[in-house]
Amino acid sequence: MSTTYTEELMSVITSRTSIRNYNANEQISIEELQEILSITTQAPSAWNLQHWHFTVFHSEEAKKQLLPIAYNQNQIVESSAVIAILGDLKANKNTDSVYEPLVEAGYMTSEIKETLAKQINGAYTDEGFARDAAFSNASLAAMQFMLTAKAKGFDTCAIGGFNKEQFVKEFNVSERYVPVMLITIGKAQKAAHKSNRLDLQQVSTWL
Ligand SMILES: Cc1cc2nc3c(=O)[nH]c(=O)nc-3n(C[C@H](O)[C@H](O)[C@H](O)COP(=O)(O)O)c2cc1C
Repeated sequence: MSTTYTEELMSVITSRTSIRNYNANEQISIEELQEILSITTQAPSAWNLQHWHFTVFHSEEAKKQLLPIAYNQNQIVESSAVIAILGDLKANKNTDSVYEPLVEAGYMTSEIKETLAKQINGAYTDEGFARDAAFSNASLAAMQFMLTAKAKGFDTCAIGGFNKEQFVKEFNVSERYVPVMLITIGKAQKAAHKSNRLDLQQVSTWL
């Protein structure tokens, strides 16, 4: 019996688990990573400013360099690649690149673009807003990456356990970006630890 699109999508979502033991002999190609990352960028973002930046650790050398910064979590070197998801603290700088093509294509007037640019630049005078926006929007990209990877037959694990200051120093991350999380990707060697979820009742308030 063939499965429906909805069943396949639900299966991708419900079968994703955090894999911490990868088959170190498995590779992921640059093309596969590029495809997953391109689909990742279909994630929604506030004002469509696309507040994410990806640092890709694909070579063995790069992963080895990252290992101590991620507190020697072995999955860093066992996985086929690691993606650092960075959040853009100056996503307002993307306004022109995002909206100008829409104006040129006739989907938006230049007046509307200018009005939006004023709103956006106004919001970005607040550093707290910029930081919250960097984290929330980049996190949507992170989730989209993990689900896309799963749909393409890869496993992943999000990693918040790494030294962010050291990361910035070691990899010369521009002040514009803040590290949000690392994500390992590869083929599982061992199943994930069993995990559970709180009852919906505990995590929801219905008004
Ligand atoms: C933001 C974030 C940070 C995480 N950091 C780590 C980490 O440093 N090391 C690790 O092994 N797992 C990490 N995880 C994975 C969680 O432990 C895992 O998602 C959770 O236990 C639920 O398990 P599941 O993903 O298999 O359903 C992280 C997950 C998230 C979303």
